[in-house]
Amino acid sequence: TPVTIHTLSGTSRLAGVMGWPVSHSKSPRLQGYWLAQYGVDGTYMPLPVLPENFAASVKSLRDLGFAGVNVTIPYKQAVFAVCDELTDRAKRIGAVNTVTFSPDGKIQGDNTDGFGFIENLRQYVPDIDFSSGPAVVLGAGGASRAVIVSLLDENCPQIRLTNRTASRAHELAREIGDDRITVVDWPIAKTSLCDAALLVNTTSLGMVGQPALEIDLGGLAQSAIVTDIVYAPLKTNLLLGAEARGNKVVDGLGMLLHQARPGFHRWFGVDPVVTSELREFVLSPV
Ligand code: ATR
Repeated sequence: TPVTIHTLSGTSRLAGVMGWPVSHSKSPRLQGYWLAQYGVDGTYMPLPVLPENFAASVKSLRDLGFAGVNVTIPYKQAVFAVCDELTDRAKRIGAVNTVTFSPDGKIQGDNTDGFGFIENLRQYVPDIDFSSGPAVVLGAGGASRAVIVSLLDENCPQIRLTNRTASRAHELAREIGDDRITVVDWPIAKTSLCDAALLVNTTSLGMVGQPALEIDLGGLAQSAIVTDIVYAPLKTNLLLGAEARGNKVVDGLGMLLHQARPGFHRWFGVDPVVTSELREFVLSPV
């Protein structure tokens, strides 16, 4: 039987994902698919790193000649302090998920979660106009912050932010500091939904093993787009309910896939495409 030989050379491009633990990460599968698709001489590896070794490990990757690294839980904030340069969106989101080592050894931090969120919606709703009306955002965690910052950048006229723990929503609104953000009651009232152009769930409700998101969509216009950042299951109860009443829905898997594009582009030189084959590959068991 012929063997497929895949070896690395001194010019191979190296990248990976650093986290603790990191075994759950879909990034090696995702980036590995693109590496093969585009015939890139490079590799992307899982990098499980203990908290006490985190900062030194990032610097070591730079010194070992890595092109860059993705950073995941629990290091998205800790990596901030290790970076020499931060993109504007990373500063405003308050977290870094994509690190690039520049030729002069600078550690550059970016956050591509908001980009992934917007690009996912654009892929499924090409004519989407984020400036056309208010957005309702459920949840006030890290994902919510990336979603809100990206919506503001797309000229969303108003963001109605609601969270079970109201203080977290107020704190997030204060930190972002944009007067287009209004904190509204949890659970969301009909009056806050009726003229919304976009409804986004950034909470973990609806995820496998978590309670369902209880929401009355009765007041929502049929033209409103409904999206979830949860992707397991692909169709959450929120999306099923919205679809049943005729709203366009977009699942959360694409956000994960699109947020990986800027890193791949910078490290390996190709802006990769997100296809339905890639979706299936990333979801299929290893
Ligand atoms: P991430 O960084 O992924 O956004 P997170 O910071 O843990 O994760 O935030 C989880 C979000 O899901 C929060 O908005 C959280 O609400 P609280 O701030 O009130 O905890 C929300 N969430 C999780 N479980 C929930 C539940 N059972 N009911 C309502 N909201 C829930």
